[in-house]
Amino acid sequence: MATRKILTKEDPSLYRSSRAVTDFGPRLHQLLDDMKETLQAAKGAGLAAPQVGVLRRAVVVLETNVPEGEEEHFLELVNPRIVETSGEQTGAEGCLSVPGECGIVTRPMQVRVSAQDRNGEPFEVVGEGLTARAFCHEIDHLDGVLYTTIAQRMLTEEEMKNDDDGDEED
Ligand code: CO
Repeated sequence: MATRKILTKEDPSLYRSSRAVTDFGPRLHQLLDDMKETLQAAKGAGLAAPQVGVLRRAVVVLETNVPEGEEEHFLELVNPRIVETSGEQTGAEGCLSVPGECGIVTRPMQVRVSAQDRNGEPFEVVGEGLTARAFCHEIDHLDGVLYTTIAQRMLTEEEMKNDDDGDEED
């Protein structure tokens, strides 16, 4: 495994649509392993393949919404699609590709995502709260959408300083 360089908002790759993953071989597995290591090193909540310069539909999300006694773990979503949403949440969101900034974004409170695992097996997963926000944020990356373009507003430096509730960056 190796960490990969995270592209920042100046990079045109972040505004392009990613193509579906069709080959579930070793290159994909290496990519997902590297993305997990990169995300862990950056202490982020989620990472999409285009953020490391690979325009393929794959994301890794840290599942923090785990029952007591269970450890946080990474969810790998290949070719993910949101198939159902409910509720609404409005809150601060960040992105590893937009370091040092935060913005207010409204997202569904719960989303059901249909995806494939690293071997191409289809599955569904439901995310709530921060996990729902991360799913939406990462899937947006696959369509070339940065949250800064859909945020109601960005936080000021003063607000960032006061924001001590530990929001993680995606
Ligand atoms: Co992001």
